[in-house]
Amino acid sequence: MRNLAWWQSAVIYEVYPRSFQDSNGDGIGDLDGIIQRLDYLVKLGVDAIWVAPVYRSPMADFGYDVADYCDVDPIFGTMQDFDRLLEEAHRRDLKLILDFVPNHSSDQHPWFLESRSSRENAKRDWYLWRDEPNNWMSNFGGSGWEWDRQTNQYYYHSFLKEQPDLNWRNPAVRTAMYDALRFWLDKGVDGFRVDVMWLLVKDDQYRDNPLDPHFAPGQSSGNSLLPVYNSNRLEVHNVVAEMRAVIDSYSRRVLIGEIYLPMKDLMTYYGQNLKGANLPFNFLLLQSAWNAQAIGQVISGYMSSLPPGGWPNWVLGNHDNARIATRVGHSQASIAAMLLLTLPGTLTIYYGDEIGMTNALIRPEDVQDPAEKRQPGIGMGRDPERTPMPWDCSEMAGFTHGRPWLPLVADHRAVNVEVEEGDGASILNLYRRLIALRGARPMLVGGQLRSLTTSGDLLSYERASENERLAIFLNFGHGLVQVATEAGTVLAGTDSRRNTERVHNFIELQGSEGVVVEVVS
Ligand code: NOJ
Ligand code: CA
Repeated sequence: MRNLAWWQSAVIYEVYPRSFQDSNGDGIGDLDGIIQRLDYLVKLGVDAIWVAPVYRSPMADFGYDVADYCDVDPIFGTMQDFDRLLEEAHRRDLKLILDFVPNHSSDQHPWFLESRSSRENAKRDWYLWRDEPNNWMSNFGGSGWEWDRQTNQYYYHSFLKEQPDLNWRNPAVRTAMYDALRFWLDKGVDGFRVDVMWLLVKDDQYRDNPLDPHFAPGQSSGNSLLPVYNSNRLEVHNVVAEMRAVIDSYSRRVLIGEIYLPMKDLMTYYGQNLKGANLPFNFLLLQSAWNAQAIGQVISGYMSSLPPGGWPNWVLGNHDNARIATRVGHSQASIAAMLLLTLPGTLTIYYGDEIGMTNALIRPEDVQDPAEKRQPGIGMGRDPERTPMPWDCSEMAGFTHGRPWLPLVADHRAVNVEVEEGDGASILNLYRRLIALRGARPMLVGGQLRSLTTSGDLLSYERASENERLAIFLNFGHGLVQVATEAGTVLAGTDSRRNTERVHNFIELQGSEGVVVEVVS
């Protein structure tokens, strides 16, 4: 197999830093906490961590409102702590990917304070100011325009009013942002996950968006219009190509884009001549119905839509979506793990999913997420999937000595790292085995995917190289399934007792069971 870049064969692990490990008892995870848990990640077998924003921030959107792109928020630690994290990660051969939030800053960022100070200020045009609002909405619901009393104009915010959108048509903004990228690249970070990449550029004529005919009452009002003029504008690709050029002026770095768009549009973010994002995040597994047919279609549809040379990637969870074990249920979470870890390309796992962590129930008085506060009770809140990582059976699950900023998930005494490490049949040990298998069989990363078929609840496909063939069988249902197969040996089963089992001409799968079979040909 040809030589791959590190990020092409990587399993990336997303750390939501507030909830990973608290080191000083304030109930909020921090950089020192991440350092303490690096060995756990090495043992899990992942190659890279993507850390959600740790920049200086008033935390209106928990770090996605940046007040200084080149500093660390004291809640998370100091720049020395950051440097130590980078060093300790690299010492263990783990790459470190930072979140980069270019679409908007905090309203407390000195750039915005200047911009809003007067219409004549040199930074006025760094943000989107208008005399009259148009109909563009905030993605968190309600109008996206905020009236500024002092200068009698409105500014646009795609999210909270505390997150004013930067004007990416202004070359000075671009230069300043690329300087921020270089600041971290010079330190040695291995790449960036770019927040809301597809939103960066807006229509220069500020045309009104059309109504979305599919909008139904009860949904977020942010979905009432089709975002034709404030998202996915053609000019965004110039910006992405410029970011990529910055990244490429360093060696061995990666540019990942957060992009929620239909498949055809998503693929354009690989860029002309593949000079856009190395990895436009593929969220199909998060969005698809959970059955063999739907997942089969998602896989073939995605693989056949990739531009020539475009590298595939798959995401099973993140800090904005319901956890996989909640979405598909405990028993199917193992199938999801086996599916993810046998797909081609780069993979992203969300912290806690490897132990089968579920969404937590958040009482109204515990709500933290501004998305929930802005539109309560319609399912916009992301607190349920952001609760502290349960490490052990102690009262606060080994996450903190204090009071955690979000409650622990109710079953933390049963579903935690300590318990699962000691249980050979746990999902944690399944993840470890599957990640190790992927490392041992590079064809799982870069080999062919073929013979994908579905029949009832069964999804099967083959991964193949010139001299190896692995057949994957996944039972998405709860009943017994029998399937004809070639002879071989089970390399990994969701039921670990099946490992090394010899298979002759058929195999039986219990409900929610999956196996990887090495076919002898
Ligand atoms: C996407 C991030 O993943 C989400 O958590 C955040 O609220 C918005 N972008 C705004 O930055
Ligand atoms: Ca802390």
